Amino acid sequence: MERLDKILVSQNICSRKEAGKLIRQKLVKVDGEVITKPDFKLDPETCVVELRGQALDFKKHIYLMMNKPSGVVSATEDNLDETVIDLIPDEYKRPGIFPAGRLDKDTVGLLIITDDGDFAHRLMSPKKKIYKKYYAELDKNPDENTVKAFENGIVFRDNTKCLPAKLELLGGCRAYVEICEGRFHQVKKMFAACEMTVKYLKRVKIGGLELDSNLNEGECRELSKDEQTVIFSQQIAQK
Ligand code: URA
Repeated sequence: MERLDKILVSQNICSRKEAGKLIRQKLVKVDGEVITKPDFKLDPETCVVELRGQALDFKKHIYLMMNKPSGVVSATEDNLDETVIDLIPDEYKRPGIFPAGRLDKDTVGLLIITDDGDFAHRLMSPKKKIYKKYYAELDKNPDENTVKAFENGIVFRDNTKCLPAKLELLGGCRAYVEICEGRFHQVKKMFAACEMTVKYLKRVKIGGLELDSNLNEGECRELSKDEQTVIFSQQIAQK
């Protein structure tokens, strides 16, 4: 059970103060009855809340897919740089939204933004084995030795051992990489351990969910229910 004013705020309809006003002005109904108390408690999953005669399409959480551009940081706030949250249109903004996992400032591509902490945890935890797929362009050509090194688990200079990763050679200096961890600068450091520099990095897939090719960089859209599930549907067998 949740307070009526909080429910209006959570759906990005208004501020807490405005919610109180709307309710006291008798503009809000619950299951057909006018409610005048902002602290009225209800189950938003089962009750119909109407504002000015219009039923709310209550969503407990929001799940967004963004095509992150270069030059913005994967954070909720930053003193210097624009954040991915700054790019979200007002219609999708909600209290408590955050990027589920980070991409570096210069990395582009698929980023999930949500206000659902459990969902984000399932997505990010290495134990859950949700593979993230990246397209990389390098300063040198990776070869079968690089593939093997990734397969065996790259060891960083500080002795951190990465979990096995899959490297698919695309010819020349291009490759796909799949990892299920999210260490700081992980892909760049994995290639650096093989004496290569990443020139361009784009995340193209998370679990079974591919980046929507219709989304331009900087744009986002809501995930469908199927897409929210498909993320967790694919677990790649790694050696
Ligand atoms: N690995 C990196 O090095 N950078 C990213 O942004 C994501 C994975």
